[in-house]
Amino acid sequence: HLVQKPFPENFLWGAATAAYQVEGAIEEDGKGISVQDSKNFSNYFHDTTVTSDHYHRFREDIALMKTLGLKSYRFSIAWTRIYPDGETLNPAGVSFYNQLIDELIKNNIEPLVTLYHFDHPQSLQENFGGWYSEQMITHFLTFAVTCFHAFGDRVRWFMTICESNNVVLYPDLIGGVPAGIDVEVWRFQVSRVMALANARVIQSCRKLLPQAKIGPCIGYAIAYPATSAPQDVMAALNEDEFRTFYPLDLLCLGRQNPTVVNFFACRGLDIRLSPTELEEIKGANPDFIAFNYYQSDVAKACPDESEEAQPGFNQEGKKGGFVYPRFPGLYAGDSNPYLERNDWDWEIDPVGLRIACRKLFDRYQLPLMITENGLGARDTLANGEINDAYRIDYLQKHVEQMQLAISDGVPLLGYYPWSFIDLMSTSNGYNKRYGFVYVDREDSDIKTLTRYKKASFYWYQRLISSNGALL
Ligand code: BG6
Repeated sequence: HLVQKPFPENFLWGAATAAYQVEGAIEEDGKGISVQDSKNFSNYFHDTTVTSDHYHRFREDIALMKTLGLKSYRFSIAWTRIYPDGETLNPAGVSFYNQLIDELIKNNIEPLVTLYHFDHPQSLQENFGGWYSEQMITHFLTFAVTCFHAFGDRVRWFMTICESNNVVLYPDLIGGVPAGIDVEVWRFQVSRVMALANARVIQSCRKLLPQAKIGPCIGYAIAYPATSAPQDVMAALNEDEFRTFYPLDLLCLGRQNPTVVNFFACRGLDIRLSPTELEEIKGANPDFIAFNYYQSDVAKACPDESEEAQPGFNQEGKKGGFVYPRFPGLYAGDSNPYLERNDWDWEIDPVGLRIACRKLFDRYQLPLMITENGLGARDTLANGEINDAYRIDYLQKHVEQMQLAISDGVPLLGYYPWSFIDLMSTSNGYNKRYGFVYVDREDSDIKTLTRYKKASFYWYQRLISSNGALL
């Protein structure tokens, strides 16, 4: 039995959202269309027009945050409110976030701003392929610098790009691979451009806002070996490195991971950065690492000489729509027989969160922030109440593991469950809810949009008020 350390006094008990999933109002006050607004999937709901109507109800929502006792709120700034077409400044967009931030500060809630959460202007996608082009760096920097000037007097915490590593694993997240471009070439080019963008934005934040803290964000599913066969252990190591090399190895260690460089070299792609680029990235030195954790992975050996030599997806394994990536020569995903799953086959693994904290801190020696963690579920509203005991169970077990990680010596700065309020899930619309606050709407019917506190709201309220002591 370890001696448990308490949560630090200034621990940031938070909750998170992202603009395109919660705001709605996609064409109001000069906002431009983003790649999320123009996305059109035939197989699941993706309509950003109204979502949870937070744009019009942010004061009511912040009042709920205050009641919940949130110390901090993570939200993203819709690039297309500030630069609708990626070029021209829209003062009305700046004004919206000024009001939002002022309201948070008035209620003693520390803003944590995500600069980019998958939603760049559609025009930049059409003009030059979005993140596929280096031109994106200049545009992103201009947008970020505008945010630093406009909000930096009140915002002390910034995150650069949400999950740039997952964007590479799941190309569809940010609008897809432009026609005619090889997906491997795309993966590398987008990773490189995002790593450079991360570095430049961090450096400009340093100059403009020396008091602010800024860090990159990854989606981190730690990899367990499928068996104790050394080949599977190697596969798990490969997966871990594949998931963290862009951008963390670059930004925090100033080096490119040789295993991954070799993987691409075998496929005829030289992904080595120039010495000048490496030098530039090396100097970025983030203040912290943000990571989003929902589940863990299993990796098994996937020899290069296997029939399907190209990277792709393994359709077997998980029951639902989830597919396992397969990178021949590195690893292939597999299922974990020891874990329960949610309704969408995401494995539930609280201990994995402690392992993730340990691994990231061991490797990068930087403070960590958990910027997403939560359970997607089909909640039921009955007589104005939502009894989401399953969510409380999920969150409680993860918080317990966080405290163990802190006791292991990992410097954890904050915890931002996904999500503060029900929002449009990236892959499953309103069918899959994550919030502490229920929003009365369905995919095909926006209903009243009335807010209701779930049972998990009261649980989190008690947890925050005791600074994590009431586990
Ligand atoms: C994270 C994203 O990777 O996963 C969020 O940052 C997303 O935007 C979350 O909502 C959960 O995924 P999903 O598909 O269940 O909404």
